[in-house]
Amino acid sequence: MKQFKVALLANLKKNAPHIDGMPADQWADLDSEKTIESLVEAIRAGGHTCEFLEGNYTLIDTLRQYKPDICYNICEGHFGDSREAQVPALLEMMRIPYTGSQVLTLSLALDKAMTKRILHWHELPTPAFQTCESADEEISEDLHFPLFVKPTREGTGMGVSSKSICHNEAELKEQIDYVNKKYHQPALIEPYIEGREVTVGVVGNLTRPVARRLPEDEDSPRIQAGLRFLPPMEVDLQPFGESDIVYSNRLKVDLADQLNYLCPAPIDVDMVDELNWLTAAVFRVMGAVDVSRVDFRLDANNNWKPYILEINPLPGLSPGISDLVIEAAADGIDHTELVNMILDAALKRYRMI
Ligand SMILES: Nc1ncnc2c1ncn2[C@@H]1O[C@H](COP(=O)(O)OP(=O)(O)O)[C@@H](O)[C@H]1O
Ligand SMILES: [Mg+2]
Repeated sequence: MKQFKVALLANLKKNAPHIDGMPADQWADLDSEKTIESLVEAIRAGGHTCEFLEGNYTLIDTLRQYKPDICYNICEGHFGDSREAQVPALLEMMRIPYTGSQVLTLSLALDKAMTKRILHWHELPTPAFQTCESADEEISEDLHFPLFVKPTREGTGMGVSSKSICHNEAELKEQIDYVNKKYHQPALIEPYIEGREVTVGVVGNLTRPVARRLPEDEDSPRIQAGLRFLPPMEVDLQPFGESDIVYSNRLKVDLADQLNYLCPAPIDVDMVDELNWLTAAVFRVMGAVDVSRVDFRLDANNNWKPYILEINPLPGLSPGISDLVIEAAADGIDHTELVNMILDAALKRYRMI
């Protein structure tokens, strides 16, 4: 087995800048020291040497000094509407290989509205939508209450709570205004999909050639060779009642240890096939590589039709906590193996192994 010098690039929560007036959940996406240590250990257990480097502008110096063969990138970034793509852009400039999706994919995936434009173009099922930069903007007649309002460019349930579900114009305007002012970005408005909450993780790369588009012919084979789908995970939100019927930041962070994760989700094989196919399709049209997680809601009012909410090309990798890690465990893949599967996918893609 070949051994490599790997730099783990991440943004530590405790290194994040603090500026007056920031929302309390501003850095909810960033990683803890515990997660970083577990990833370094996992990569070392894979036979490689590994050091952690903070993923900011100091990388220009630290990478020149450390001279890794490849970077294991999980940087979420700090500022800007393409913050997840900044480190990959730097790595491309410095011509250093790295795990995970590239600049365009990371920029698009951070922006849920841009992602949905691509999904709509490919006729993939995602809720209808509109973005609003101000509560005064007119709402499209195609959008009917109840509506769901969330920030366009955040993650980890940031800006999502039971108040995200709006039943009338007054509630809607209030929530749009809240998102605009608190998160300084457009609000994304969708029909509220009442139903079940399922997410599918995937590791690997589609066997080439695969353009970033789907075949136009519906009868074409559903190409998914090269991808390893993890068992779908369902978050059982029922015990939380009316107050938390969506996967909010409060649930994802404060109550994570009280959540009931059903993995594999209790859904029939045809639905698993359909979710896997949709996951492969989203992965492909978004140009994702190595790893991703696609979030769905299954519509209780439409025969459990799956709707794609978003793709996470940088899914969390915290041992025992992150969705992807729980899904892998349900398939007998431990944290160390999962971390190395992602690294191997990248090494193969660069033809380094
Ligand atoms: N249109 C929607 N209908 C119902 N629930 C939604 C809708 N959009 C988002 N949610 C809820 O909000 C949660 C977070 O939304 P998501 O788009 O996955 O953003 P993120 O995970 O990046 O915060 C989802 O897991 C789901 O519970
Ligand atoms: Mg999500």
